[in-house]
Amino acid sequence: MSKEFKRTLITSALPYANGPVHIGHLAGVYVPADIYARYLRLKGEEVLFIGGSDEHGVPIALKAKAEGITPQEVVDRYHFLIKKSFEELGITFDIYSRTTSEVHHKTASDFFRRLYDKGEFLEKTSEQYYDEEAKQFLADRYIVGTCPHCRNERAYGDQCEACGTSLSALDLINPRSAISGSVPVLKETKHWYLPLDKHEPWLKQWILEDHKEWKSNVYGQCKSWLDMGLQPRAVSRDLDWGVPVPVEGAEGKVLYVWFDAPIGYISNTIELLPDEWEKWWKDEETKLLHFIGKDNIVFHCIVFPSMLKADGTYILPENVPANEFLNLEGDKISTSRNWAVWLHEYLEDFPGKQDVLRYVLTANAPETKDNDFTWKDFQARNNNELVAVFGNFVNRALVLTQKYFDSKIPQRGELTEYDVQTLEEFSTVKKDLENYLDHYRFRDALKEAMNLARIGNKYLADTEPWKVAKTDMHRTATILNIALQITANLAIAFEPFLPFTSEKIKKLINKTDLKWSELGSVDLLESGHAINQPELLFEKIEDADIEKQIQKLQDAKKANELKEHKAEPIKENITFEDFTKLDIRVGKVLECTKVPKADKLLQFKLDDGHGGRTILSGIARYYKPEDLIGKNVCFIANLAPRKIKGIESQGMILSAESADGSISLIQPQGETTPGSRIS
Ligand code: 2FM
Ligand code: ZN
Repeated sequence: MSKEFKRTLITSALPYANGPVHIGHLAGVYVPADIYARYLRLKGEEVLFIGGSDEHGVPIALKAKAEGITPQEVVDRYHFLIKKSFEELGITFDIYSRTTSEVHHKTASDFFRRLYDKGEFLEKTSEQYYDEEAKQFLADRYIVGTCPHCRNERAYGDQCEACGTSLSALDLINPRSAISGSVPVLKETKHWYLPLDKHEPWLKQWILEDHKEWKSNVYGQCKSWLDMGLQPRAVSRDLDWGVPVPVEGAEGKVLYVWFDAPIGYISNTIELLPDEWEKWWKDEETKLLHFIGKDNIVFHCIVFPSMLKADGTYILPENVPANEFLNLEGDKISTSRNWAVWLHEYLEDFPGKQDVLRYVLTANAPETKDNDFTWKDFQARNNNELVAVFGNFVNRALVLTQKYFDSKIPQRGELTEYDVQTLEEFSTVKKDLENYLDHYRFRDALKEAMNLARIGNKYLADTEPWKVAKTDMHRTATILNIALQITANLAIAFEPFLPFTSEKIKKLINKTDLKWSELGSVDLLESGHAINQPELLFEKIEDADIEKQIQKLQDAKKANELKEHKAEPIKENITFEDFTKLDIRVGKVLECTKVPKADKLLQFKLDDGHGGRTILSGIARYYKPEDLIGKNVCFIANLAPRKIKGIESQGMILSAESADGSISLIQPQGETTPGSRIS
């Protein structure tokens, strides 16, 4: 028996305010959460949708240090950027606040103190790395050293980003402080731990037995944590950025960011509804839902519920519809590598196209497995689905009504079998859509809504009212009446997904009071009702716009390779015999000139010890011909000659290309005679 609730509290993961929001965040968390919140509001339910920025934690402190500014300056920069871009995308948070707010500091501090007073924590002293120069304990992220697994010399104390292994700072070889560069020493420090092992029995019952309906990716991850057995987790850190631990003798210690961040959901509710917040958090008739990405599952299904249970006065989440990850053009999205489509940049590059992004991200939502966003798919979905199906249908219905019926809804006459069949498709739409939405299956729900547009588009293509109008105005009226009723249905069905488009349709059909409960009705528009001047709902996205975005990503990749000094991948192994087939020699440059009408090419005459040869090389942007005369270079002597710009090139001069594309010639060190073999 599913439980009856009076109201729904929706939280969406608080994004770290150390970078802007990208499409991965949107597809995984904010777009689905917004669809759900809008859907419940449309149904007239009592709902609260909480958002905010997560502004504590080591990476923020580290970024501030690197930039020589305060952590508050870092979070101010991103908090407002994130808030504004969410608003522009139409994410309808009831509040979007932040964890540096006064209310949050007080709420988180009081929460900790209550648990502390109830004896819900363990106190443990352990040895941790300490920087004697900077006079501070080092969080794992602040320690760099050599990874014991792959020998990467720049591994962090919590993770090696080269091989992806999770580490503990004590695993690192040659650890150094990221703050001063000095070698850290081990020193004793006291911390508070949440004894998750103590909570394990009820968590097992609550998740594994009572919530078998959770999404399989969520349930599966929880099960594997619970099967492994839970350990106490430290909820404090030696750090000077965060909510101070409210206990005597805890100077220099703050709450662990993952302890204070979820309390941010509560703080933001208190900030919005100081007198009423408790009914949202403490009344069993409230349905609490956490929308998150898969990396947050353990914190929302195990850690935060344990904190709430330890307090004893809070409700627990009813569901945690976490999504998997969205990749970008086949690669993992990464803030630090700038491999992302940033929301604020999208909004600038594609003004007025919020719904296109909402559409593509929902259609591709990583609901059950990781998914990929590509710019080509974005373009195709816009051009082939939104423009060619949805937009085309609505536009035809409106334009034909303007043309034949002076922009008034025409009267429906006798129906054909095909009309009846088409209208019947609408009888189950509401039920089907709701069923998908109630189960957090937003992709399927969107497909269902899009199916209505397809039905409409097909109906007009099949009935061809522009032809019928030549002979039968009564029939034309019926066809267009049906097309317009479908249009009104589209405005309702798409409202949770594409709110801007839905709004636009309502304006075009001059009917702003459509209700969700009316979805499926084929009598939404009365005959005689006047509609407005038609306008296109969507416009085609051109290749040039897409290429610009792809170029932007390629530039980011190049810049990143430069930053990481990452060389191109090594080619497949060859045999020694393969290698000996290459005849590489030293040659002395006798002549060197620019090739006319080819800005990259230089033409060399080399002394190769065999009477000389001509070779062309694409290094003109990096060397002046006169500087090379008399120099020794290396070249492949047995490469089959080929003609370039009408000149026969008899080999290839060897050079190295850096990640930024610059080229330098390979030259032998010391004296060598022309024709010497290189091996
Ligand atoms: O993973 C993240 O981006 C975290 N900032 C999410 C926090 S969710 C909640 F607990 F605040
Ligand atoms: Zn490694």
